[in-house]
Amino acid sequence: MAMESKYIWMDGDFVPFEKATVHALSPTIHYGPGAFEGIRCYVTNKGPGVFRLREHMERFRSSIHILGMECPYTVEELIEATHETIRKNDFEECYIRPFMYLEGPLGLNLDASEVRISIATWLWGPYLGEEALEQGAKAIVSSFTRMHHNSSMTKAKIGGQYVNSMLAKTLATRQGFDEAILLDPDGYVAECSGENIFLVRGDKVYTPNKANILEGITRESVMTLCEDLGYEVIEEPISRDQLYIADEIFISGTAAEVTPISEVDYRKIGAGKRGPVTHKVQNLFFETTHGKGARSDEWISMVGNLKKVQS
Ligand SMILES: Cc1ncc(COP(=O)(O)O)c(C=O)c1O
Repeated sequence: MAMESKYIWMDGDFVPFEKATVHALSPTIHYGPGAFEGIRCYVTNKGPGVFRLREHMERFRSSIHILGMECPYTVEELIEATHETIRKNDFEECYIRPFMYLEGPLGLNLDASEVRISIATWLWGPYLGEEALEQGAKAIVSSFTRMHHNSSMTKAKIGGQYVNSMLAKTLATRQGFDEAILLDPDGYVAECSGENIFLVRGDKVYTPNKANILEGITRESVMTLCEDLGYEVIEEPISRDQLYIADEIFISGTAAEVTPISEVDYRKIGAGKRGPVTHKVQNLFFETTHGKGARSDEWISMVGNLKKVQS
């Protein structure tokens, strides 16, 4: 994955890619107190458009707030900075990574450090690959448990917490799977290493409730789209074996978008390929992100004024 661009926005300045560095003694590097977002900008017929940018920036500020610090920029300022970063880098589509890191002395008191904010952009194709979008990905229930919501803050995208996701994802891929499904401390299905999870049974769609998961913005979008398509969406605790007997499973996330799951723990899910409900939800999701859905205007923030688009 080439994560390159011409510039990275760093606290109001556009810094050339090679010079966008952070000091080796930042507390964020040692202990993980940072925050980040993952956002996608898609090609639409009105130019580049960022999917649910406001909601992502609200969650970014919330992550920092949950950590006990405050973001020095308003949502409006972060939106404008994102638009400018995309324009400055001439991207028609891209992945967007706002992040917060700390500058200050090494130590465990957050109040000794200052908050720094950056926004990076780069081209990033389907997270689990083009093939997984069509054929489905293979998942395993991880032997690593999802963090308890009283020891880690499950509603925040705090950097250090992603070690839990990285342990699970790495173990899954070393075992030959594409993705890990993590159970919560009570043993119910929580989410994947970087995605929320949905099960289809009959004409109903099920997903774990918000208590122990990241409140995914794609999750919320997909729930709305499922309802637009006429499927009832039920949030309730889900057991591991409910995964095995689902007609279909799909996962949602900014990186993975809407990806079917064809197999869990060596058990075929449904027909072992993308199911009809998943296909409909996926199609509507991509129509919406590309500006062709009934909810596109509501959910897409147009970047505007891109040189390539104007010419
Ligand atoms: C642990 C976890 N769950 C779920 C998601 C999906 O969230 P979203 O749809 O907002 O990208 C992500 C990705 O951000 C994640 O890291």
